[in-house]
Amino acid sequence: MPKPILFVTRRLPASIEALAVQDYDARLTPSDVAIDDLIARAEGADAILCCPGDVLDAKAIAALPASVKVIGTFSVGYDHVDVAAAKARGIKVCNTPDVLSVATAECAMLLIMGAARRAGEGERLVRSGKWQGWAPTQLLGTQVSDRRLGIFGMGRIGREIARMARGFNMEIHYRDMARLPVELEHGAIFHDNDDSFLPLCQVLSLNAPGSEGTRHWLNADRIAKLPPGAVVVNAARGTLVDDDALIAALRSGQIAAAGLDVYNNEPHLNPDYLTLENVMLLPHLGSATTETRDAMGRIVLSGIGAILAGQTPTNLVA
Ligand code: DGY
Repeated sequence: MPKPILFVTRRLPASIEALAVQDYDARLTPSDVAIDDLIARAEGADAILCCPGDVLDAKAIAALPASVKVIGTFSVGYDHVDVAAAKARGIKVCNTPDVLSVATAECAMLLIMGAARRAGEGERLVRSGKWQGWAPTQLLGTQVSDRRLGIFGMGRIGREIARMARGFNMEIHYRDMARLPVELEHGAIFHDNDDSFLPLCQVLSLNAPGSEGTRHWLNADRIAKLPPGAVVVNAARGTLVDDDALIAALRSGQIAAAGLDVYNNEPHLNPDYLTLENVMLLPHLGSATTETRDAMGRIVLSGIGAILAGQTPTNLVA
C-alpha cells in the first residue's frame, strides 16, 4: 500500500524529517522561511505539516486541494489556522500541546529576568566596547524575587511559569476565564476581573492563546491599571498586545521594562521597539530547545498518523 503523502512546509529537525520520510511519502521543504506557494505545493497531499507563520485562513483553506484530510501544526498555538473553516471542509487539525510548556515557561522567565535586570542593555554595552567597569549606579534594574507576578492565561505554560517563579518566592496571581481546580493552583490567587488583578502585577506575564477574544488585550486602559514601573513579558502571541500602547508606556516609564518573544505581524515587528533600550527582544524562540522541538515533531507526526488511520489522537484540536 502506498504511504500517505505528507507535505511539510518548513525545514524540521533532522530526526523528525527522518521520521516523516520513514512513515510518509514526505514532501520536505528545505527552508526556514514561510513559503508563498503553500497551496500549490499541497496538491495531492493527504496531510500538511505547517508552522506558525503559515497563514491558513478561511481563504487558504478554501483553496486547499480536496486530497487534504489533516493539517498538523508544529506548534501548540493554532491561531494561524482557521479551525472552523477546516472543520467545515472536513479537515482535521492537530497540534503539539504539553511538550513545549517547560521550554516556553523558561523563555518567559528569561524575559522576566532579562527585562527586570536590563540584560539586553548590559549585553549591548559590553559588545559596544564602551563599558568602563563596575559602577554603583550602572544599569540599575528591578529585583524580581519576592515580587508579585500576574499571569494572564493560566494554562499549561502559565502554570509552569508559576512553578518556576515560586523558586523566586514570587506571589502568584492569575487572571483567566475560570478558576483552576484548587490542586492546580498551588497557592496562586485567581482574579475574575482586571480591576483586582492588574494593580497587583509588579510583573505581568501574558500567556493566553491568540484569538479574537484576546486581541490587543494589553491596551492603554489596562496598562494604566498596572502599578507604575511594572515589568511586562509576552511569550504567547504578539496579537495580545496593542503595540502603540505598550511603546507609549515604555517611553513614559509607566512600564519600566518589557520582554517580548512574539510580535504582531511577525517577523515585521513595530520598528519603534528597536528604538527602545528598555525592551528585550527575542525572535520567537519560546520552544526552541533541541529536546522540545524533537518532542513537538514526534507528537504532531503521531497525531497526523492517528487521524489518517481514523483514530482520535489526544492532540486533536478539532
Ligand atoms: C507555539 O507552539 O505555539 C509556539 O509559539 C511556537 O513554538
